[in-house]
Amino acid sequence: MEQDKMMRIGLSMRYLGYHMAAWRHPDVPAGGAIDFKYFLDSARKAEAAKLDMIFFADGIGVRASDTPKGSLTRDSKNAELEPLTLLAAIGAHTSNIGLVATASTTYNEPFHIARKYASLDHISGGRAGWNVVTSWSQQEAWNFSRDEHLGYDERYERADEFVDVVKKLWDSWEDDAFIRNKETGIFYAESKLHVANHKGKHFSVRGPLNSARTPQGRPIVVQAGAAEAGRELAAKNADVVYSASFDILSARKYYADLKSRLRKYGRTADQMLIMPGLTTYVGKTRQEAQDKYDQLQDLIDPLSGLAILYSTLGDLSGYDLDGPVPDISSGPVSSIGDGLIEMARRDNMTIRQLYKHRASGGRQLIGTAADIVDDMETWFREGAADGFNLCPAILPNGLEDFVEFILPELRRRGLFRTEYASSTLRGNLGLKPLLFGD
Ligand SMILES: Cc1cc2nc3c(=O)[nH]c(=O)nc-3n(C[C@H](O)[C@H](O)[C@H](O)COP(=O)(O)O)c2cc1C
Repeated sequence: MEQDKMMRIGLSMRYLGYHMAAWRHPDVPAGGAIDFKYFLDSARKAEAAKLDMIFFADGIGVRASDTPKGSLTRDSKNAELEPLTLLAAIGAHTSNIGLVATASTTYNEPFHIARKYASLDHISGGRAGWNVVTSWSQQEAWNFSRDEHLGYDERYERADEFVDVVKKLWDSWEDDAFIRNKETGIFYAESKLHVANHKGKHFSVRGPLNSARTPQGRPIVVQAGAAEAGRELAAKNADVVYSASFDILSARKYYADLKSRLRKYGRTADQMLIMPGLTTYVGKTRQEAQDKYDQLQDLIDPLSGLAILYSTLGDLSGYDLDGPVPDISSGPVSSIGDGLIEMARRDNMTIRQLYKHRASGGRQLIGTAADIVDDMETWFREGAADGFNLCPAILPNGLEDFVEFILPELRRRGLFRTEYASSTLRGNLGLKPLLFGD
């Protein structure tokens, strides 16, 4: 099968894995999230497996609020490495795998972001990607001289202008602007310099960016918000969308909706890849896979369970853990919260069942390699996904299991590459080369 008919697979490798009790698992080094080597080892494994990219979600601060009381002391997510710094270091030890880090448009300036990601693209030879988020927690506001987090509409209005400015800055110089002619003494061609001169509602940025055009033309843009304004931001800008769909019907609806919005921005369906998050528990038998899952679920402390629901559904500690999920509306990350409430109602879930379900973060599949690949293939072939962003429950085991069991089955069915097609992330994702001004 040709490369462009294959799945794209990224590895989201934040913390110690996506399961909230990952740090208590006997095989997981509990201090790994602040250990460069821990991440480098997994990045190398992901590259040996020819995955498209490693991906770091991020928050700028400790976002849990100790609700219910005592939950924060049980949370491993209080210490981690800053992802862009980490990816620059990983980039120096790898050669093909894409390097995607999250950065917030609410708590940064466009010039900083344009400059840092352009630098990562140069350092890595064309492998950088920026996951654009608007942030969602009150705690982050408190780290940036604000009492309140910006409201949804204002955040997205700022994000829209922010990304416009970053793109203008990335287009400061044409490819061949720097002639560096030692004889004539001319370093750059004046006609190939484009000064942004941006003046808008939120930003006033003159430019140009003090960096040459990057190996990919510009870094890959990833977007991960999914309500109305998030979808528009994605349709306008994203090369890759990291989504949080839980079932194939809503995933297909979301996929079709997002792709249909592209035309408005003069873009075509093949210019944006939609990659839902996916956690897999795989074994030689279904029982073995289930045992891996149960082992982790049994390590969840109920206080931590309620805390994980807090960011999407609010404080449920006043309700019976083994009673039904109450009639509430979703919290700050509406695209995730709405999906959870819908699922809880449909499946008559208790609060305990819901937090256990949430413990891995997103959609999870438990079974043999054939079971899991059947499901991935269905999503891929039936218009629900162009690939997946793997969110292993625990690192490195979740990745190692994926490579050992699931990849061979994907390859046997011709669904995933055996070699990299390119040295750039854009090239490996099968996105067409970017001409200056595109
Ligand atoms: C799949 C997914 C991943 C996200 N990852 C992050 C992240 O790493 N850091 C962050 O601050 N916000 C993250 N967000 C939050 C979004 O940036 C946004 O603030 C939030 O989703 C609200 O917008 P929405 O209702 O359009 O989804 C993520 C959202 C989704 C859906």
